[in-house]
Amino acid sequence: MSAEEKNVYYQADTPVPETPPPGKAPAPWKKTRFIGKSATRVDAYERVSGRALYPSDISLPRMLYGAILRSPHPKARVKRIDAKDAERMNGVHAVISASTPGADLYWPYAADKKVKLFDPLCLYEGETVAAVAAETPYQAWDAVRAIQVGYEVLPFVVDERKSLDPHTPAVHPEGNRVKPVEIYERGEVAKGFAEADVVLEQSYRTECELHTPLEAHGCVARWDHDKLIIWESTQGVFPVQARVAEVLNMPLSKVRVIGHYMGGAFGSKLQTDKSTIIAALLAKRTGRPVKLFLTREETYLAVGNRPPANMKLKAGVKKDGTLTAFQFSGTATGGAFPAGGTSLLDWLVRELYLCPHVRCELSDLYINAGPSRPFRAPGHPQGAWALEQMMDALAEAIRMDPVELRLKNIPSFSQAREGKPPYTTTGLKDCLEQGAKAFGWAEARKATSDIPKKALVRRGVGVASCVWFVGGGGPPSTVILRLFSDGSVNLNMGASDIGTGTKTVMALVVAEELGVKPDIIQIEHADTGTTQYATASGGSKTVPTESPAVRAAAIEVKQQLLKLAGEEMKLDPSALTIEGGVVVSANDPSKKLKIAEIPGLKSRGVIVGIGYRGPNPKNKFVNPFCAQFCEVEVDMRTGEVKIIRFLSANDSGRVMNRLTYNNQVIGGITMGIGLATTERRILDGSQTGKMVNRNWHDYKLPTALDVPALITSLPIDRPDDEANITGSKGLGEPVTIPTAAAIANAIYDATGIRMAVSPINPVTLCEVLAKSRKEG
Ligand code: MOS
Repeated sequence: MSAEEKNVYYQADTPVPETPPPGKAPAPWKKTRFIGKSATRVDAYERVSGRALYPSDISLPRMLYGAILRSPHPKARVKRIDAKDAERMNGVHAVISASTPGADLYWPYAADKKVKLFDPLCLYEGETVAAVAAETPYQAWDAVRAIQVGYEVLPFVVDERKSLDPHTPAVHPEGNRVKPVEIYERGEVAKGFAEADVVLEQSYRTECELHTPLEAHGCVARWDHDKLIIWESTQGVFPVQARVAEVLNMPLSKVRVIGHYMGGAFGSKLQTDKSTIIAALLAKRTGRPVKLFLTREETYLAVGNRPPANMKLKAGVKKDGTLTAFQFSGTATGGAFPAGGTSLLDWLVRELYLCPHVRCELSDLYINAGPSRPFRAPGHPQGAWALEQMMDALAEAIRMDPVELRLKNIPSFSQAREGKPPYTTTGLKDCLEQGAKAFGWAEARKATSDIPKKALVRRGVGVASCVWFVGGGGPPSTVILRLFSDGSVNLNMGASDIGTGTKTVMALVVAEELGVKPDIIQIEHADTGTTQYATASGGSKTVPTESPAVRAAAIEVKQQLLKLAGEEMKLDPSALTIEGGVVVSANDPSKKLKIAEIPGLKSRGVIVGIGYRGPNPKNKFVNPFCAQFCEVEVDMRTGEVKIIRFLSANDSGRVMNRLTYNNQVIGGITMGIGLATTERRILDGSQTGKMVNRNWHDYKLPTALDVPALITSLPIDRPDDEANITGSKGLGEPVTIPTAAAIANAIYDATGIRMAVSPINPVTLCEVLAKSRKEG
């Protein structure tokens, strides 16, 4: 796991201040005015009108454009670079490469691993070789093409299934294993298999998926004397600040990173990219601001992917549905410079269902391809693809309903963690039961089994479930809330809203506590120069990490405000509440005072509240759960799969905003449909080692036509009051974990064919259908 992932997935282990102090935690919300209702986004107008300034919209006076020359070969050594022609071209202000003074920097691509910023040994297609700054993007790209590079092309490997074969070229001198095989073990699998009535074994594979955020990766960099200001499309401005300061050897105070809006990331913008350093270097050299955004091709080659996963799972079950053993092996590849996203393939096998005997082996292998990065629930959708299809097969083998089999094996504690700590809340049972009921699971199963085997168009239903291993967020988070004398509010928070609606949820928290309307709350966020420290937004932890700090700050402001109001009203503050900007006596509603008319507030001008995120409960784990159900229609002649409907039942703790909650559910399912049916990075393993489908035409994302209109979001709205003071657990990732497996299971129900390799598209399915007809 990369340092950035650790930062996202684990809470700080140093003690943090906590407001309110331990023991004085506020009571959980009961009846709410704003929380849990459906609220449009506070920045909806900016977003839909095009007024929102994304980093890629930033345009500064005298700004130049940067472009990067990248290795066209999967493995090559740069022998010489001749930039004389490029430097003389119209509009070109700088060309930099390894030999440029100041550009000979180390690049820490992992916590303990370094490479050069412009390394002469290029280990993947897309590695940085040189860069240009010019007056226009076109001039910059013309100049990139005019740089002459002499490459010594070297033998490569781009298929991790061949990485360990004899005679396969080593990606790094130490060989093609990133680390020793990682082994997890509890119980004795041999014993477990001996106790089973049925033992099944199956190999699975998911293909490499590319993040494909709408806004590409990149930044605008500007130097103000010795201070560097960067507008970056990122999930976390503070991690970018830290990495830039480290590489350029600058104090944190001189690096300001701003990221008010960002057009998607899904894990690929948790970490700083080389291109940010390159933009800063170009800006320094030219004395002008530089805008450097990657092209879609570059993002496909160089800034992350969900690595392919090769998995084998053996499972044992008794006739009554008791699971006896799981044996799992998984191989992933982080490309040439693994930067996260290769771990956790086995997490669901270890954790999701009660099973006494488990053994998992994980391998991470190098290939000459772009680095992996965390991708929406790293490892989990791949692991679910294997485990949840296996659960389906086990259920069939013992003639048990697959929902029933899952219900029989629900743990109340974390089996895979040290000391087997209990979960704060486990809504998996509710997700399965209420989900099955709302979906009409039993009726739908009956209906699909009634379809004649010879029918040319068949229907099937499938179920899959999950746990997400991060949950409930955690410290650190510090926010500042200011209430002005007119009753309007300013929330100052370091976290990024990565498109999920974080700002809106935080506004609702403030509104709930202060009894003000969300539209008078102004939010300043994601700016290392002006806002408080926050970790990157990822791991589905942003709401459970930030919202308790925001609630704590709001409570502090409220207490101060009621004190001031109480002095004026000659009433005890504890007998006062706030309704719509007016302080009201709880006992005598005729006694009231507008916030804007509190003399104490007028003379002070402002009330400031600071909120800190306290730690999660000790010796317990907070995790979100999910179960999904889907129905598909398969054309047995063409192999076309139409997804008819989906239902996602989620236990993510308290529902904070029903609208953005539903948005996450629909987005997660859409992404899972891509993994199951369309998405696949194709590398030419036989001749060039290059990526064949590096654009939106050849790399197939699901479109509106591939996503069912019938998607039901069914929240199991159970506040987790032990987790934190807002009761939220996190939603973004669990909603994409079981999707692909549920689709595969539905396709099996329709066709009787187990599609163990993703993506299941008409070509792959048609082939298998034809073969099965031949075999009869
Ligand atoms: Mo996510 S893959 O933690 O942004």
